[in-house]
This record gives sequence, C-alpha cells and structure tokens, in this order.
Amino acid sequence: MKDRLLEIERKASRELEGVTDPEALEQFRVRYLGKKGEITSIMRDLGRLPPQERPEVGKLANRLKEKLNRLFEEKKRDFGPGRRDEKAFLDVSLPGREPPRGQLHPITQVLEEVCRIFVRMGYRIVKGPNVELDYYNFEALNIPKDHPARDMQDTFYISENVVLRTHTSPMQVRTMERHPPPVAVIAPGRVYRRDSDVSHTPMFHQVEGLLVDRGVTFGDLKGTLTSFVHQMFGKKTALRFRPSFFPFTEPSAEVDIRCVICKGEGCRTCGQTGWLEILGSGMVDPAVYEFVDYDPEVYSGFAFGLGIERIAMLKYGIDDIHMFFRNDIRFLGQF
Ligand code: FA5
Ligand code: MG
Repeated sequence: MKDRLLEIERKASRELEGVTDPEALEQFRVRYLGKKGEITSIMRDLGRLPPQERPEVGKLANRLKEKLNRLFEEKKRDFGPGRRDEKAFLDVSLPGREPPRGQLHPITQVLEEVCRIFVRMGYRIVKGPNVELDYYNFEALNIPKDHPARDMQDTFYISENVVLRTHTSPMQVRTMERHPPPVAVIAPGRVYRRDSDVSHTPMFHQVEGLLVDRGVTFGDLKGTLTSFVHQMFGKKTALRFRPSFFPFTEPSAEVDIRCVICKGEGCRTCGQTGWLEILGSGMVDPAVYEFVDYDPEVYSGFAFGLGIERIAMLKYGIDDIHMFFRNDIRFLGQF
C-alpha cells in the first residue's frame, strides 16, 4: 500500500505539471481528491491492512492528501482573475513602478533662491553660530543689557551671556570684526524667538545682508531691496518702505509687500492691514562701527534682515506658517 501511495504521488505531480486550464485542473481534483478519487479509495482500503500497519499508512495517506490539496489550491490561484497571466506577467512594456522621489523642503528652496539673487548682485555668503554670545546678538548691535529694545524680541537664554540668536544680525558684527571695508555679505540661517501664531514660529529663517563701502546711501538700500522684491515676486509686486526703528540702524525702514492671500483687502494673515512685513533694514548706525573699528567718517553702509518663511508664504499663498513645520508630506510634496 505504501508503494501505491508513492506511485500516486509521482503520477499526480507529473499530471499537475501538464495542467494548463481550469477544466483539466477540475479533472485532476476529481481523480485524486474527489469522493471516488484515488486517495479516498486508499483510505477506504486501510481497513484491510493488519492493525499494526494501519497508523503508519494512514498517516502517509493523510499527508499525501494534504500535499495534493495544497498543490491544487496553488494551481487554482494561477487561473484566478488577473493572477499571473503569463502574458501580462512578462509584459516588458509596462511602465516600471517608480519609488517616490524626495525633494528639498520649500523653505530650503526659497532660502536658496534668495541667496542666488544676492550672490548674482555680488554678495558673498557667510555663516555663523545659532548659539550666540549676548555680545554679538545684542551688545555690539547697540542694544545694551538694560535697553528696552530687548523686549522687542523674546529671547531664549542659554545662560546670562549666551542666547539662541534672535536674528542673523550678529553676523554683521562678526563679519566687520574680521574684514576691513568694503564688505558685501549675506548670512542665511536659523533664528529663535518665543513667538507663536499664524505668522510666527519659535524657530524661523532669516537672511541678513550687509554692504559697507565709501559713499553708500539710503538710495542704494532702496534700489537693492526693490530689485530683490521684483526678482523674487515679479516686477509688478507692490511694496512699501515703512519708517521703523532698530537700535543698530539709523534711519531704519521695514519693507512690506501687498498681501497675496487677500490681495490687500485685509485678512487674518496680514492682520487686516493688507500688507505683510518681509524684512527690516536701515543704514548701519555709527555706534555699531565703533565696536568693529570702522571709521564712520569714511564709510557708510546698509543692512537688512529678511524673514524667509514670510517670503515663502507670500510666494506660495500659504496662510499658516506652521504648515512648513508639520512635516505633512502631502503639503511638502507640492513645491
Ligand atoms: C530683525 O530681526 C532685524 N534683525 C532685521 C534687521 C536687520 C533690521 C538688519 C535692520 C538691519 P524683525 O524682528 O522685524 O527684525 O524680523 C525680521 C523679519 O523676520 C520680519 O520682517 C519677519 O519677516 C520675520 N519674522 C520675525 N519674527 C518672526 C517669527 N516669529 N516667525 C517667522 N518670521 C518672523
Ligand atoms: Mg519687525
């Protein structure tokens, strides 16, 4: 009887290989696994064996039944809907499955674009520490310890003399300290403030600009920043220079551009004003030159600090700055 089982196994395997359509498969099932099939008949014949042989042969028969059942189910799947259809399976003309491609964060893209514009104008890129000495972040920028201007920026203090820089302006001092005039640099990077609402986040990016030479005027500042806005947003973009105050520039101006969300009608992003501030700027205050040994009688210059998130919001019409930092791939993938 064991020989019979082996014989059935060999025969069935060979036969199954030749099965190429569902009908032949059904015939296979009837022949081996059906009620009148070969396995069933073996089971029936078990009773005729001597009792001591029954368990072993019974087990073998059961195992073969399971095996043939499994082979049958596998083959059946081949004929199932859309399954391993030989032609489709081998269709080399089907488009490949591309893995999703990554890309630069929109803030990085805008930051790089801003830098490109100024580099084209002749500015050199410099970088400095995010964890900054109070001296560079405040003091050398004409903001002494008890100066009320420190309230303008809610500062993260590391210790009494060390802060997370609240702006990129310390790079003005670090640059002039190291290089005699003329200088023309931009300093991109992260800055930190205790600040959070629809247009403020506790970490954001600025690009500082500094140009010092003989005979630099406020007209140069206006021309440079107007050219920047036109290159960034297009020649038709409305902008305005609004008188302002910074301890390290005199005179100072903030630049606003027409709110692109509401087109100037007033919305929550622009605080109902129709304008959104994108940068602070001004002529470098002579008091700052004293910290770096520049002669204010000979040299003059301007500086500016751009908010990159603001520029990105305006460029892409985004009304909530926090979208940039939620890391929602559906949002980030649109840029
Ligand atoms: C300054 O930080 C000055 N250092 C700019 C400056 C540089 C003036 C050189 C003169 C000379 P202010 O705090 O206004 O200024 O910030 C500059 C820009 O950063 C703002 O116009 C705005 O676009 C952006 N900004 C400020 N706070 C936030 C914030 N919490 N989240 C996102 N963007 C901000
Ligand atoms: Mg401001």
